[in-house]
Amino acid sequence: MPNQSSAIKIERSQKYFNKLSLFFYDFILYGIISRYAWGSSIQRLDAHYKKYIRPNHLEVGVGTGFLLDRVSFDSARPRLALMDLSQACLEQTRRKLERYAPQTYIQNLLEPVRHEIAPFDSIGINYVMHCVPGNFREKSIAFSHLMPLLNTHGVLFGTTVLSEGVRKNVLARPFMWLMNALGVFNNRKDNARDLEHFLKGNFQLMEFEIIGVTAFFAIKNKS
Ligand SMILES: C[S@@+](CC[C@H](N)C(=O)[O-])C[C@H]1O[C@@H](n2cnc3c(N)ncnc32)[C@H](O)[C@@H]1O
Repeated sequence: MPNQSSAIKIERSQKYFNKLSLFFYDFILYGIISRYAWGSSIQRLDAHYKKYIRPNHLEVGVGTGFLLDRVSFDSARPRLALMDLSQACLEQTRRKLERYAPQTYIQNLLEPVRHEIAPFDSIGINYVMHCVPGNFREKSIAFSHLMPLLNTHGVLFGTTVLSEGVRKNVLARPFMWLMNALGVFNNRKDNARDLEHFLKGNFQLMEFEIIGVTAFFAIKNKS
């Protein structure tokens, strides 16, 4: 359960995911910040989705659904579900991906998933964990809430922006500071070694790569 300070931080972060900000989101994040500050191009992110996504997929922390909309599923009728705390994000993404008739779930990742949901073959969690409050031990509970939603051979994959143990360029440094000061991000103490150690210790680590300040990861449940 999130404590009171986490609840306040979540509320602060969530207020920035509204209709107005989502209108500019794709251009600012994917046109500028992701590539030049975080170090990961759209092509690298597309490749991560292409490698792991399956036609029975849950997307967590959906934003505008930008990357998901670029995916080609290996099936004409994939099962797609969307999970987020923000109604605005869920609604915008649901409309963008209407062709797949996605199911939507409002869920705080710091709380156990209470919805009854059939398991998935892939879960995507892209650029989400740096928004979630808490030190790594506290915020990593989100993984424990999501992993039971995977089928036996299912993979959870994604990226997160790290603050420690990475090399920040001249754009990353002020922009990450600003995002934390505004409360959009909560990643001041997010460390590359802690993340890798946590994922390795608790799951089967399929991939872990740092590019710029972005960690690309993929994990499975231990068999
Ligand atoms: C930076 S956006 C990333 C959006 C998208 N995945 C992308 O790659 O562009 C973070 C997303 O995570 C969601 N989010 C942040 N904290 C959350 C939490 N505690 N529980 C559920 N969703 C959360 C936000 O509402 C938002 O949709």
